[in-house]
Amino acid sequence: MSRMPAFQNPSQQKTNGESSCAFLSPPATHWPQFDPPLRLGVMASGRGSNLEALVHACRDGRVDGKVDLLVVNKADCGARTRAERLGLQSLVLDHREYPTREALDHALVACFRGAGVEAIVMAGWMRIVTDVLINAFPRRLINLHPSLLPSFRGVDAIGQALEAGVKITGCSAHWVAPEVDSGPVIAQAAVPIFPTDDKDSLAERIRREEHRLLPWAVALAAQQWRAQG
Ligand code: GRF
Repeated sequence: MSRMPAFQNPSQQKTNGESSCAFLSPPATHWPQFDPPLRLGVMASGRGSNLEALVHACRDGRVDGKVDLLVVNKADCGARTRAERLGLQSLVLDHREYPTREALDHALVACFRGAGVEAIVMAGWMRIVTDVLINAFPRRLINLHPSLLPSFRGVDAIGQALEAGVKITGCSAHWVAPEVDSGPVIAQAAVPIFPTDDKDSLAERIRREEHRLLPWAVALAAQQWRAQG
């Protein structure tokens, strides 16, 4: 049975619209709590550090959810190794084995539906997704991007920020829309760029923020989902 969310935030009280779900920075306390836990799926292609951050947030109660399935498109990616260590079920859908992006997305939908997943987080999924996946999980698909959207969409967002010479960048969790990195923002965190930064140092600083931001964004999204029934 659902219970009322414990979370209260002044900006949330002002409006019931989309903007109520956009915060610059996660607070340390007052996380939305729901029951029963959401059944989450994660898609990843890389190291999987955000997957792990989300799993820990679920396990320590910050996110009232459970990661039921990880899907990767590279059999040897770090995310898969982490999933094994964390005791998560994982599947490999190698994109090279699918003739089109749509075909891969049909397979993704089948895997997540088969696992009973209610919502999906793209945590470093390095493939463009299509309407097949987006329409199968409307407003149930979240992406993480290493910039303050709408700045620096697409590949190499960190390199783009360094190249542009901006002094502040960050990370965004957003709903997935058909155009790449374009859906409405759920939550963002700002990250300074220092004169000594290179791609590696900046990526590391952004990643640390992402590990706080992503669980927070999922908790906020869950609040919306539960409110909608
Ligand atoms: C993150 O920086 C995310 O923003 C981007 O890919 C990276 C994934 O990192 N889309 P990890 O695999 O979670 O460590």
